[in-house]
Amino acid sequence: MTPSSRFLALKMLENVDFTESRIIIELGPGTGVFTEKIIEKLHPEAHLLVFELNDLFFDSLRKKINDPRVILIHDSAERITDHLALNGLHCADAVISSLPLANFPEELKDHILKNAFNSLEKDGKFIQFQYSLMSKKSLENVFGKVSIAFTPFNFPPAFVYTCQRKVS
Ligand SMILES: C[S@@+](CC[C@H](N)C(=O)[O-])C[C@H]1O[C@@H](n2cnc3c(N)ncnc32)[C@H](O)[C@@H]1O
Repeated sequence: MTPSSRFLALKMLENVDFTESRIIIELGPGTGVFTEKIIEKLHPEAHLLVFELNDLFFDSLRKKINDPRVILIHDSAERITDHLALNGLHCADAVISSLPLANFPEELKDHILKNAFNSLEKDGKFIQFQYSLMSKKSLENVFGKVSIAFTPFNFPPAFVYTCQRKVS
């Protein structure tokens, strides 16, 4: 896996309102390229919950990150709502995901997307990058409105999906 570029990191974070956001969730940080940028911008009273399933990435993040606002979670993104509750937190303002959705079985992808949707504030955002447009339909099915940006300054070039939770 080639870690994402700083250009992709900036694209992923440009629609997050860090002055207002108090709960942010990151899914699939890997080596922590986005995590470090999120921490730089994170409000002093905010919490960042980071879900990483891989043992090696999780251990390396645990050694590297020492910030009381950050909660590192060695578990699957399927369990976002459980971990919010375990930490006495409610809805998130933004979920920032690097999960390889296109490689996931349909059932797992749907489960994670629905869980992310349920973890968001009414006007919260789900932001996801992918190397193709294959996941557009799945994201629209769960979130309704999806806007797409693109950056060539990443290997491979990447699409950034920004999904706004529908207000019902
Ligand atoms: C494509 S990498 C992205 C890494 C990094 N954010 C970047 O952009 O360079 C995807 C990451 O998602 C993690 N991952 C895969 N399935 C997961 C799951 N169900 N829950 C949490 N993390 C998962 C992988 O271990 C990997 O670190």
